[in-house]
Amino acid sequence: MMSSTLNKLLQEMPKAELHIHIEGSLQPERIFALAERNHLTLAYPSIDALRAAYAFTDLQSFLDIYYAGASVLLTEQDFYDMTTDYLEAALADNVRHTEIFFDPQTHTARGVAMATVINGIHNACLALADKISAKLILCFLRHLSEEDAFATLEAALPYRDKFIGVGLDSSEVGNPPEKFSRVFARCRELGLHIVAHAGEEGPPAYIHTALDDLQVERIDHGVRCLEDAALTARLAQQQIPLTVCPLSNLKLRVVQDMRQHNLRTLLEKGLLVTINSDDPAYFGGYLHANFSAVFDALQMDSSHAQQLAKNSFQAAFLPDDVKARYLAEVDAFFAAQAA
Ligand code: HPA
Ligand code: ZN
Repeated sequence: MMSSTLNKLLQEMPKAELHIHIEGSLQPERIFALAERNHLTLAYPSIDALRAAYAFTDLQSFLDIYYAGASVLLTEQDFYDMTTDYLEAALADNVRHTEIFFDPQTHTARGVAMATVINGIHNACLALADKISAKLILCFLRHLSEEDAFATLEAALPYRDKFIGVGLDSSEVGNPPEKFSRVFARCRELGLHIVAHAGEEGPPAYIHTALDDLQVERIDHGVRCLEDAALTARLAQQQIPLTVCPLSNLKLRVVQDMRQHNLRTLLEKGLLVTINSDDPAYFGGYLHANFSAVFDALQMDSSHAQQLAKNSFQAAFLPDDVKARYLAEVDAFFAAQAA
């Protein structure tokens, strides 16, 4: 077991979160409260029954429940409340800066307006801006068409100042990054930051095309890169950040046991690895729970913690001077522990 001193340090250290789907932060209690408020009937009779359905075998079995859960979100207040819940949990884990994914197509396909989605999430971020820095990244659902992604981008453009980048999520296998090359080219022209999920369940080839065709600045997950030595070397050499999500990888059976997770290997090979919660309501915990689980299983120490905290800010879409301030804050935190 990890020492309580190390666990406390993991909790208290300043950190950034770069891979969190806001719809994946919707707790069963909030799902039931929103269903009641919106006069909707859920397919599950109780909170416990819903939670019991969170027995995933792979990415798709999770996504089916994740989209069902998100169907209770109808009003701007719903999006606001969901986002406030997440930001308060992140604050409790000493997250200083977070870059939040949202999936507009999940909502616009149900007739919810783009304005409702973006304003609800964005206003919740503004309300807590003096406590936590939060930026938004719009994700395209890769199981849908390129045409649908283009229409989504178009619908979001009136709110261009409310999100800093675009990503690519949902069912990976069979939906390679290059399916969206033209959409992402347009997003680059618009000056948006570019990320994509790749190498979670999909092969290393998807990481290559995310880099070459989409020109991503970070890879979300990316843990399958180790199957390709040249790719691993490239990620290390170019310091392309990987936003790794340990509890997600365990629950979706990307790894069979946390002790087999390759996060420590990736870190020790010099890749710019970060730890993130992905979908905290579904995978068993927020950011600190992810740190705790992987540090315990892989027997990592405070030097790994310092590296990972620094990586989280290094990999963030922040101006250099702000980044430098956060990095100095991490170093000061660890220096104070040593004293
Ligand atoms: N992978 C792909 N799509 C997702 C995920 C994920 O881990 N979480 C929410 N949407
Ligand atoms: Zn994800």
